[in-house]
Amino acid sequence: MSKSKLRSTNWFGHADKDGFIHRSWMKNQGFPPHLFDGRPVIGICNTWSELVPCNAHLRQIADRVKRGVYEAGGFPLEFPVMALGETNLRPTAMLFRNLASMDVEESIRGNPIDGVVLLCGCDKTTPSLLLGAISCDLPAIVVSGGPMLNGNFRGQPIGSGTAVWQMSEDVRAGKMALADFMEAETCMSRSAGHCMTMGTASTMASMVEALGMGLPHNAAIPAVDSRRYVLAHNAGRRIVEMVHEDLKISKILVREAFENAIRVNAAIGGSTNAVIHLLAFARRLGVELSLDDFDRLAHELPLLVDLMPSGPKFLMEDFYYAGGIPAVVRELGDLIHDVLTVNGKTIRANTAEAPCWNREVIHAMGDPIKTHAGIAVLHGNLAPNGAVIKPCAATARLLKHRGRAVVFENVEDLKARTDLPELDIDENSVMVLKGAGPKGYPGMPELGNMPLPRKLLERGITDLVRISDARMSGTAYGTVVLHVSPESAVGGPLALVRDGDMIELDVEARRLDLCVSDDELARRRTAWTPPPPVAQSGYQKLYVDHVLQADQGADFDFLVGIRGAGIPRESH
Ligand code: FES
Repeated sequence: MSKSKLRSTNWFGHADKDGFIHRSWMKNQGFPPHLFDGRPVIGICNTWSELVPCNAHLRQIADRVKRGVYEAGGFPLEFPVMALGETNLRPTAMLFRNLASMDVEESIRGNPIDGVVLLCGCDKTTPSLLLGAISCDLPAIVVSGGPMLNGNFRGQPIGSGTAVWQMSEDVRAGKMALADFMEAETCMSRSAGHCMTMGTASTMASMVEALGMGLPHNAAIPAVDSRRYVLAHNAGRRIVEMVHEDLKISKILVREAFENAIRVNAAIGGSTNAVIHLLAFARRLGVELSLDDFDRLAHELPLLVDLMPSGPKFLMEDFYYAGGIPAVVRELGDLIHDVLTVNGKTIRANTAEAPCWNREVIHAMGDPIKTHAGIAVLHGNLAPNGAVIKPCAATARLLKHRGRAVVFENVEDLKARTDLPELDIDENSVMVLKGAGPKGYPGMPELGNMPLPRKLLERGITDLVRISDARMSGTAYGTVVLHVSPESAVGGPLALVRDGDMIELDVEARRLDLCVSDDELARRRTAWTPPPPVAQSGYQKLYVDHVLQADQGADFDFLVGIRGAGIPRESH
């Protein structure tokens, strides 16, 4: 792209009052005049925050991106945006994904930026940055912060999140001492980086790579491995070239790229959260993608990657050493469309020679860990617009099950009654949680993997069918039906379920049904009253008024689509 066409020349390229204002104040940072000579200005969009431990090292990563940008003749400018951390932010980080995406979108469009490097890590930081950048549609490249080193507790690998769910159930079942549980805290999180299981952060970093929006090996290089810095440096070099080539996001994120991502997600046993985020990306871009595409494209695919929570022992560090996403893409062969990626080569060119160094971690297509591992999309009178389940993280015998509903009206009800000895529940029951969807909570929290009642844990029961309009942490597991749409708070059939109703789950038939007559459901609907509004003002009111349902990506209705990066009016 010629200098005169760069967006940044509209700020820095004029010898007048406005140009003076744009340059002079920037020079207080010690930038020499030649940096304003019309070279590409590269924004480094940083979600660094000490409140988001998974992203706390991203300023060091940004420094390496800057080196690469300077080396390629660009002018890097780092800027902060709202960072969303899963572990501290309440009521749930997902509530703020769309807000952060607006921060990103407006920060890019309103500033002298020609291309952008997106630095992210923790679960929602990746989708929020990509959503905002998509709506501007400038050249962009994602650099993930990378996973933590493997957790290790008393000589055994323990995985972020997954170990917490396992050990906390063990404490409640009386199988683990509380002191041991507390000791495991430091053993699990022992380096910079995000969760090192195939949770949502690793899944979204993998999706970035599979979509072609990151350089090869973006997903798995540990955060503290020197090769993470090399990747960041190379991303800085490459984004300058991308600006010259005018290689915008919409040229990379085509329908085929989404199909690739959906298939890779099945092969790696990725998080159900990817469904919601990929749907939101596609809708921002105007790419046709539906919930049913996830099932149609990938349900027959095998699980190839043996990472927690789908597998018993390996973690992201092992995945990188075994060959990472390039080895998985190579294994998928013709199932992967040969489309362009940010490095200017196609995904198959990038992975044609990708080696696998450990077949225990990355299995061959002919020797999968499990068959039919893709996320299954369920329909039925309990989920007219769909629901999802991750079969590879479920108990095989429960994938076809008929059981009596035990209903919790909201999460407070769940917490108050789960462990009551008098709770009428057994191993055949189906736990149902209402009020945890996008509008109902609000923000669709990761509550879908409801804790099992203590009295069942003490009997050695380790899984029940659980159904809700919530999401589930990508690090979690179980026979958990999620994202039921429409959600209960807007009067979806989930709202009408009562204790004792029979529920039928048949994953092979893709069915989720409430075994109650239409007449009775109509009577219940007439009697149903919507819950009181969860917010009267502020951001939560904006959220509840505009958030779409899970099967539409839970974006805001007014954010769908590309708005581009036209030059806004002068500010003075
Ligand atoms: Fe941040 Fe898991 S808590 S990635």
